[in-house]
Amino acid sequence: MQKLVIQGGKRLEGELVVHGAKNSALPLLAATILSQTETTLHNCPELSDVDAACRILSYLGCKCSREGPSVTVDTSGLINFDVPDSLMREMRSSIVFLGAIMGRLGKCRLSFPGGCELGPRPIDLHLSALRKLGVEIHEEHGYLDCDAPKGLKGGKITLSFPSVGATENIMLAAATAKGDTEIHNAAREPEIMDLAEFLNKCGAKISGAGESTIYISGVEKLSGCYHSVVPDRIVTTTYLCCGAITRGELIISRANYSNVASIVPLLEHMGCQIYAYGEGNIYIKARKNLKAVPTVRTMPYPGFPTDAQALIMALCSTVDGTSVFVENIFENRYKHVNELIRLGASIKVEGRVAIVEGVKKLSGASLEATDLRGGASLVVAGLFAEGTTSITNIYHIDRGYESLEKNLRQIGANIKRIN
Ligand code: EPZ
Repeated sequence: MQKLVIQGGKRLEGELVVHGAKNSALPLLAATILSQTETTLHNCPELSDVDAACRILSYLGCKCSREGPSVTVDTSGLINFDVPDSLMREMRSSIVFLGAIMGRLGKCRLSFPGGCELGPRPIDLHLSALRKLGVEIHEEHGYLDCDAPKGLKGGKITLSFPSVGATENIMLAAATAKGDTEIHNAAREPEIMDLAEFLNKCGAKISGAGESTIYISGVEKLSGCYHSVVPDRIVTTTYLCCGAITRGELIISRANYSNVASIVPLLEHMGCQIYAYGEGNIYIKARKNLKAVPTVRTMPYPGFPTDAQALIMALCSTVDGTSVFVENIFENRYKHVNELIRLGASIKVEGRVAIVEGVKKLSGASLEATDLRGGASLVVAGLFAEGTTSITNIYHIDRGYESLEKNLRQIGANIKRIN
């Protein structure tokens, strides 16, 4: 089993390059199924979740090949419409293949995606929306048998919660449905806009992505295209936190400043100087004495992202003052707290609320990553903690971060991966 070992206390200085967004690459890879000809995704990150998505595509009969940061998908060999349980369980977001397979083949069989470290991950919003587009779904023994005997037809859908995955599944199923679809209370994440841009390049007719109402006019068929995956805004946030917690000075390149607009004011309030310059560069410099942010509430985009909660919490553990976190999106997203406490952090959790009292010092300890962003928060905190911090179960981190320890080493961190 691999682990990361960090000797903390080093001030980080230098440049970090942000890779393409995991949460965009995954729906985009599913979306390639809709294209009758070859698609190439540039800036597609090398992550275990991306590998898992490519394994699903290969199982379905598509050909996936990677050349450095580019992944090419040829769907001419598409023959299967079922995704085996073993592949579905590799990552929770594989449910987004449902909309794509239905859009291309009109039938699909897959198992309920596994729950995950963040608590149960229901798909009721996905299923009720797809039913409105003419999909007949039979749920039995943990499997979903989906069919559209009369083909997919457009419809008007209002989501009770702006679910990212449900919005993506509807877009994928509606792109080649007969007639028009409206999605009300749609998710507004940048990854939704990236998916709409990709689908339109393939010949779809989608407008309003990034707003609360998305309009889709179904088209006959889609053809492949070239598309560059949007930069990962949570990796950008992670790097900003690494710079801030070590009171360092960083340049983060190939980033998208507007996609971290809800994070920057918090870091500035704490005492960081941050600005964007040139093409996709972000500068951050943290003063020695940082102060707490009053309250951090996770919200759907453009609010403060739930995926950044653990990262900002690690930083808040080391600043002067008390911060209050309210996790409104997932019911079990504080599993990193006990691990941060092992480093000496002072955090109290009561339901969805976590109270973080900054401490002057953290001391290295042996930790276990509990989930993707929680694991990343332990790396952030370990960079600050005096002495040695080791982190096991780093397969969680490898799901969403491309060569994290290599990148951090290049800017002065003493961090290595050992078997
Ligand atoms: C996406 O998950 C992201 N994953 C998550 O990132 C992110 O935390 C989340 O959006 C919120 O921004 C990918 O894009 C692959 P949701 P998703 O549907 O689509 C409830 C990471 O760390 N819900 O917006 O699953 C659900 O239980 C991951 O990169 C229903 O009740 O998120 C949750 O409480 C973690 N019924 C809330 O909505 C449904 O049918 C948000 O879920 C669907 C969701």
